[in-house]
Amino acid sequence: MNVNIKIGFAEKESAELLVFYLYEDVKTVEGALAFFDKALNNAITELIKKKEFIAKLNKTITLPTYGKIPAKRIMLAGLGKKKDVTFDKVRQAAGTTASITRDMGIREVTGVIDSIEIPNPSSIEWYQAYVEGCLLALYKFQRYKNVPSEEQKEIKSLTLLLSKKESFKPANEAAKQGQIIADAVYFTRDLINTPAQDKTPAILADTAKKLAKEPGIQCKVLSKPELKKLGMGGILGVSQGSIEPPKFIILEYNARAKNQDTIVFVGKGLTFDSGGICLKQAKDMDQMKSDMSGGAAVLGAIKAISRMKLPQHIVGLIPCAENMPSGSAIKPGDIIKFRSGKTAEVANTDAEGRLILADALDYAEKYRPSAVIDLATLTGSCVVALGTAASGMLGNNEELKKRVKIAGEKTWERVWELPLWEEYQEQIKSDIADIKNIGGPHAGAITAACFLSKFTEKYPWVHLDIAGTSWCEKNNAYLQKGASGVGVRLLVQLVQNWSRFS
Ligand code: BES
Ligand code: ZN
Ligand code: ZN
Repeated sequence: MNVNIKIGFAEKESAELLVFYLYEDVKTVEGALAFFDKALNNAITELIKKKEFIAKLNKTITLPTYGKIPAKRIMLAGLGKKKDVTFDKVRQAAGTTASITRDMGIREVTGVIDSIEIPNPSSIEWYQAYVEGCLLALYKFQRYKNVPSEEQKEIKSLTLLLSKKESFKPANEAAKQGQIIADAVYFTRDLINTPAQDKTPAILADTAKKLAKEPGIQCKVLSKPELKKLGMGGILGVSQGSIEPPKFIILEYNARAKNQDTIVFVGKGLTFDSGGICLKQAKDMDQMKSDMSGGAAVLGAIKAISRMKLPQHIVGLIPCAENMPSGSAIKPGDIIKFRSGKTAEVANTDAEGRLILADALDYAEKYRPSAVIDLATLTGSCVVALGTAASGMLGNNEELKKRVKIAGEKTWERVWELPLWEEYQEQIKSDIADIKNIGGPHAGAITAACFLSKFTEKYPWVHLDIAGTSWCEKNNAYLQKGASGVGVRLLVQLVQNWSRFS
């Protein structure tokens, strides 16, 4: 899709549809909208006065202009109360208006950006939120659908209409950044929405290799013989019940940046989690194709970071496996030995994420990283605790947790901290191995992180449990039912902020 920045006047714009953004608590029609109001015999003032349109967030109304002005229609879109406006409200309002425009069969979105009254018009962030909101809202996963071309509704171009010349530069930069971000989120969402049959560990590894065609990215894939040599019993154990062999994806961006900090992203890459011998119930088991959301977010983030040419050295580690029940599957009670030498009793084969992550987190140490962030759809317990509005955050370093929290607020991929106190470590003690892979019925998200913490002692580490945030049950302003792509925007923001705060 084309994203254009246009300096011009809404009054003269002959678009199919012009979108104006309004605040709920501003009752007077001002600026360019006043011109439209007059041309339409005060129709807009009347709508607001009679409360037929209240500019609450994500509410819209569309009016025909009957040839009285060059634009064919105008849409009024609510942003809520002016004092409460945030990047995410702009993202949401933009997304809502873009998808409504698309569903009307119109092929272009023209937003009158001055009407948002951006608090800081010279910074790119507000414009970027707008572009991101529009693009993310227009995502559709249609790989497996036959859609007749006459039913195909698609926005071909998005125009940010601005009246001041000075706004061109920041808005244009925002358009570029927003497109890179949205492209990466689309890539991640596509991978997650794809059925497990078409994204086996081998296919994911090939996808990562293709990504290495982007500037500055290298990819190495470790297969079963190499994993055996490295003693990665976690990845090997989880995958042994499946006919799909495991793969360990290693991506590096900017490997030659010797004076830069190294940040490692680790993503859970379970291409399907049936639960193994401790089989999950049938209801919603199909959603377990999304158990590689952490890995997909790592791939998407690295894609965006390379396109943005950020200066840091980034490593992405994605252990990939399929968790299946079979005659060769790992059994409850089996003991596995990790690359680090530690042993674990597999008390439940459905708690497999921590087993593959243990080897990857241990491997991360060899990069002497300044930070390691892992993302994993790790526990149902985290969904019980936090629902879908926040990812669970646990870690061993206050400064890194703070950075992740700041990036989460900015991108609205928010995180909420859970305690990783010593007391909880008690729950994963095993009678016959160093540790066991479940910690009983209480505090499951925490005990899962306790397990991971045994492999992350040598560097600053944050774990993000994205079980509740990676998948949407219903459509939202800029998130559709299905994969959210959570983590991509957060990781990119974290890296963008890295030197600013160090
Ligand atoms: N992949 C699941 C966690 C999950 C649940 C992700 C719901 C997304 C939505 C994970 O491997 C799992 O099965 N965890 C178990 C752990 C339990 C056996 C200790 C869980 O949370 O039930
Ligand atoms: Zn599981
Ligand atoms: Zn899982």
